[in-house]
Amino acid sequence: MIRLGVNVDHVATIREARKTNYPDPVRAAILAELAGCNSIVVHLREDRRHIQERDVRILKEVVQTRLNLEMAATDKMVKFARELKPDQVTLVPERREELTTEGGLNVVNQRELLQTVVNLLQDTEGIDVSLFIDPDPEQIKAAHKIKARIIELHTGRYCESSSPIDELQKLEEAVKLSHRLGLQVSAGHGLNYQNVKAVAKISGIEELNIGHSIVARAVLVGMERAVREMIALINP
Ligand code: PXP
Repeated sequence: MIRLGVNVDHVATIREARKTNYPDPVRAAILAELAGCNSIVVHLREDRRHIQERDVRILKEVVQTRLNLEMAATDKMVKFARELKPDQVTLVPERREELTTEGGLNVVNQRELLQTVVNLLQDTEGIDVSLFIDPDPEQIKAAHKIKARIIELHTGRYCESSSPIDELQKLEEAVKLSHRLGLQVSAGHGLNYQNVKAVAKISGIEELNIGHSIVARAVLVGMERAVREMIALINP
């Protein structure tokens, strides 16, 4: 079974568009869990454009599966995570002007900083640490060198590519290399009901983290149905 992590950021995007107190990403998370997802993912961005600290604190209390907090490797966020102790932290790059996380972490160039942050988080009881990286052998080897145990491969290129077969092959090779190095592999970004099957078929990917497409479908068919349909696609 491939595990599904449901990212509820964009429920908060709708809320923040009008600065109301609805729709609540916490309620969406509960419905996603009822539909059978394996974890809830939220990205607490520096600009707080969608998820707020309040959301993460309540999710920590109510999530019954696992809470995966995506965040930048900054002092403030590390402090927040060490206090909150989510089940997992996924370190992601962050740029203010971007629409969404545009590329993976550059572990090769930021080795010292990331090594320190990974150590601090992994030494905090109860937190697993994952690094969000492109399916690039150099980045995978660098993640291994700084003793990460989990990586999440960025599927954005595959999702946007006009030659997705080449990108799928890169993902496949990245998974093989990661396994040789003993890393656990997740994947995500840009996956939807049309493009997810090919990625789910790659042997060795243990978890997919999907947000925008599930929330977009949930607006029309409801959260539970949207999550159930995705689970059925990734585990045919
Ligand atoms: N995984 C990571 C590390 C992400 O940053 C995101 C976006 O927040 C996702 C998965 C989900 O991407 P999408 O919303 O495109 O499904």
